[in-house]
Amino acid sequence: MNLILMGLPGAGKGTQAEKIVEKYDIPHISTGDMFRSAIKEGTQLGQEAKSYMDQGDLVPDEVTIGIVKERLSKPDCSKGFLLDGFPRTVAQADALENLLDELNTKLDYVLHVQVPEEKLVDRLTGRRICPECGATYHVEFNPPKVEGVCDHDGATLIQREDDQPETVKNRLSVNMEQAKPLLDFYSQKGYLVEVNGDQDINLVFEQIDEKIGGLAK
Ligand code: AP5
Ligand code: MG
Repeated sequence: MNLILMGLPGAGKGTQAEKIVEKYDIPHISTGDMFRSAIKEGTQLGQEAKSYMDQGDLVPDEVTIGIVKERLSKPDCSKGFLLDGFPRTVAQADALENLLDELNTKLDYVLHVQVPEEKLVDRLTGRRICPECGATYHVEFNPPKVEGVCDHDGATLIQREDDQPETVKNRLSVNMEQAKPLLDFYSQKGYLVEVNGDQDINLVFEQIDEKIGGLAK
């Protein structure tokens, strides 16, 4: 199954992605996670991406399209994939269409997780992540079993650098501007599925599971 997860920063893409890839056994491809790994490893890609991410701006299309192209061409994607946070511009969506043609495959669903804008700031500023395994928590809405410690590997949780209130504001406005034409693009192609992300995490997943479940093996 080939899926895209769309939604504004903090809508719950990463949180739902963890559940979807576990159940449907497909690779989770998050461009944000790929850039953060590159930053951690100190690669050239990381250095380039960091300057944009720290401001809450988008990394240039050619860089982002390049890393997705490389990743989707790997053998594990032949059984399907879940793209999280890509595409984010119509140019990226066009490039993806061409790439999927080359790979002789097509999309099944574009899941759009919707959450009222005023709730996103609280979600982002209260988020904590595991620097080792990438698991996502929230101090109030999805706390770990032991405060400040990852349930999976015991690592000390950290805050993402772009979750500072000033950066969050710019991320939201940049992403809102890009979202509309992209939603129109996928709606016209008939792939778009709206998901109400403004409810309990497990209920959001139930909704997604119900919508895509018909295609499962
Ligand atoms: P990326 O890492 O993709 O960040 P984002 O799009 O801003 O989205 P987030 O990861 O912040 O939010 P999310 O929707 O995953 O929410 P989460 O599940 O964590 O991208 C980062 C940067 O990389 C970009 O700004 C850009 O610079 C660059 N980049 C990435 N892709 C790019 C592209 N394609 N083109 C160009 N540049 C690109 O949840 C958030 C919080 O809410 C958590 O604390 C969670 O526990 C909590 N939560 C989740 N669900 C619920 C719920 N139902 N109820 C209550 N709380 C919830
Ligand atoms: Mg995310």
